[in-house]
Amino acid sequence: MRIFDDPAAWRRERSVQIQERLTLGFIPTMGSLHEGHLSLVRRSRSENDRTLVSIFVNPTQFDDPADLARYPRTMDADLAALRGEGTDFVLLPRAEDFYRDGFRYRITESTFSTALEGRHRPGHFDGVLTIVMKLLQVAQADRAYFGEKDWQQLSLVREMVDAFFLPVTVVACPTVREPDGLALSSRNRNLVPADRQRASQFYRVLSSAPTPGEASRELTASGFVVDYVEDLDGRRLGAVRLGGVRLIDNVPIGGPE
Ligand code: PAJ
Repeated sequence: MRIFDDPAAWRRERSVQIQERLTLGFIPTMGSLHEGHLSLVRRSRSENDRTLVSIFVNPTQFDDPADLARYPRTMDADLAALRGEGTDFVLLPRAEDFYRDGFRYRITESTFSTALEGRHRPGHFDGVLTIVMKLLQVAQADRAYFGEKDWQQLSLVREMVDAFFLPVTVVACPTVREPDGLALSSRNRNLVPADRQRASQFYRVLSSAPTPGEASRELTASGFVVDYVEDLDGRRLGAVRLGGVRLIDNVPIGGPE
């Protein structure tokens, strides 16, 4: 596994691969890797000649400095896990390279990005779309893999790729869950044990409540602070907080995943 921190060095390596007609799958992450991320790596490995994973805790997508400060960082374990999966390349961007412009240039989506997550985390999707645009430009991949767990992110990235004619195929990957239904997330490790136990109700209630309003009521009664539960395009999306830890999830309405 080869590790790059210099975008120009990666681009040189990638241009050699392109001459050799080697396809590349790319998985952008913020590290603290779990089985959800690794499922994307496996999918990419099965569909491409080479696989690149980036790890970068992107400061511009955190609206809350406390959330950024306590975002888990587990670099050694992450690299070991990626090695175990047979990852070919890892990109470790440096903020001073990726934000040389001081975030003066950014991607803004004006409609969907202000709903749901965007309403509760102002500016979040500007940060996400800007870093994903930069990473896609640097990676030069044939396919980029995103999890359905972050449904709104997936949909905004897909539409950005369309809007700017980016020469990459966005591949959506199903949400990986714990046996009790909780969607795997880097933030789960910040849950105290009692909240971890309670957290499984989030998925259960999202999947079973007859309406979003009923889901909100049930979750509030179980001790969650509900940011939103909304039905949209055949999916039910929700965000809750439990002891200061924010969880998001989404499920198809009225059917199995
Ligand atoms: P991160 O939260 O690290 O997630 C990286 C990718 O893994 C995303 O596409 C996310 O949807 C996917 N993922 C996370 N948990 C998953 C699960 N339980 N099952 C399936 N896929 C899962 O999302 C980000 O990072 C950032 O916003 C990023 C796109 C890297 C831009 O900074």
